Amino acid sequence: MAKTKTAYFCQNCGTQHAKWMGQCSTCKEWNTIVEEVIAKEEKADWKIDTAPRKANIALKVKDIEIQNEVRYNAVSTELNNVLGGGIVPGSIILLGGEPGIGKSTLMLQVALSMKHKVLYVSGEESQTQIKLRAERVQNLNEDCLILTETNTQKIFKAIQIEQPEILVIDSIQTLHTDYVESSAGSISQIKETTTELIKFAKETGTPVLVIGHINKEGSIAGPKILEHMVDVVLQFEGDRNHTYRILRALKNRFGSTQELGIFEMRAGGLREVKNPSEILISKKDEDLSGTAIAATLEGMRPLMIEVQALVSTAVYGTPQRSSTGYNLKRLNMILAVLEKRAGFRLGAKDVFLNITGGISVDDPAIDLAVVVAVLSSNEDESVPQNYAFAAEVGLAGEIRPINRVEQRITEAEKLGFEKIFISKFCKVSQKETNIEIVKISKVEDLVGLLF
Ligand code: TYD
Ligand code: MG
Repeated sequence: MAKTKTAYFCQNCGTQHAKWMGQCSTCKEWNTIVEEVIAKEEKADWKIDTAPRKANIALKVKDIEIQNEVRYNAVSTELNNVLGGGIVPGSIILLGGEPGIGKSTLMLQVALSMKHKVLYVSGEESQTQIKLRAERVQNLNEDCLILTETNTQKIFKAIQIEQPEILVIDSIQTLHTDYVESSAGSISQIKETTTELIKFAKETGTPVLVIGHINKEGSIAGPKILEHMVDVVLQFEGDRNHTYRILRALKNRFGSTQELGIFEMRAGGLREVKNPSEILISKKDEDLSGTAIAATLEGMRPLMIEVQALVSTAVYGTPQRSSTGYNLKRLNMILAVLEKRAGFRLGAKDVFLNITGGISVDDPAIDLAVVVAVLSSNEDESVPQNYAFAAEVGLAGEIRPINRVEQRITEAEKLGFEKIFISKFCKVSQKETNIEIVKISKVEDLVGLLF
């Protein structure tokens, strides 16, 4: 018997090392290097019949003909937008997300609603389980085939028989190929099976949608290399205890990464949310203190989001600060700014902050709404529900302009807000809008205007 060959792989970054080490020399993570069996032999038998490939000739840019790109319609408008207009033939799309967030549901719904022959390969659920789920989501593509299999060679055999137009793999971590001996989910298996899928996609023009698990740091489990290899990396995020889910493109070779899709998880599967702003703002009968509405942008999309804060005297010695959906470090910075620049004594107060809907916001334009929510709770005075806020707050307490302010103003106006507070340095004039634009330059200005 041939000697088994092994190599050492970092489970974090995927680097191959000659010997075992305590710390990976590439990514500097500790205890991530694991010995894996690699027994690479000649491999060729997965091939699907394709015409012999011609050598490529270098062309001048002006001589390259643009073939009218046909994209497969993913049916879901939200998904089509995120992909930049549909699924490109021969592309390989990776969908990452935390366990239970709805990756399998989304892929199954897409597979079931498409007008093409789809092969859905699951290594995680049985055919019966998938059938039960399919009945809940209630779309029926007669040409959607379900296969429970984890061996890539057997998957390619099934593909040869069925000739699907689109392939879905749930999930890459369950696949294994005969040519690598380590267990499924190991770095060498992930690398190898992805390479096989990419070859298959490119040579047959079949798009492959692959689900990938996410590790505790939030990146797709397995080597970062995986993200470099595929054409599109999508991320499905949200809070499992809430119903809203956001689909983002982290990388897209065929379109922008600015678009994002919003879904709601219902008993009957995922539904697209067409008017997210209206849903994310909770309806109230009376004005309550501690809430403020931010006009944010998620990708290209304007989104009105409600920020809630609770400021109370600390019961224990050290005040607590907690934040959901907003960066805690940034909240601490905002509190320091309010203390130093606006004279609010918040040092001995507990501060809790929450972005409603269970989504997390990175847009700096939410800063001003955070300030207003904190001050409103601290003063116990409400801010009218029809005021919106959109500005970044700097360390000196200055109110800074943010990008695409016109788009935010338009959204606020559309939803019936009466006033929007922005930075003095934004170049927009009052003339074109019905909403009153209030320009401020320092956090201190807010106090006089609101409380
Ligand atoms: P799933 O797609 O299995 O998640 P992932 O593949 O990302 O691990 O989704 C699982 C969750 O979705 C589960 O907690 C139940 C919920 N769900 C619904 O609420 N409604 C539905 O119709 C379906 C199919 C799932
Ligand atoms: Mg799943």
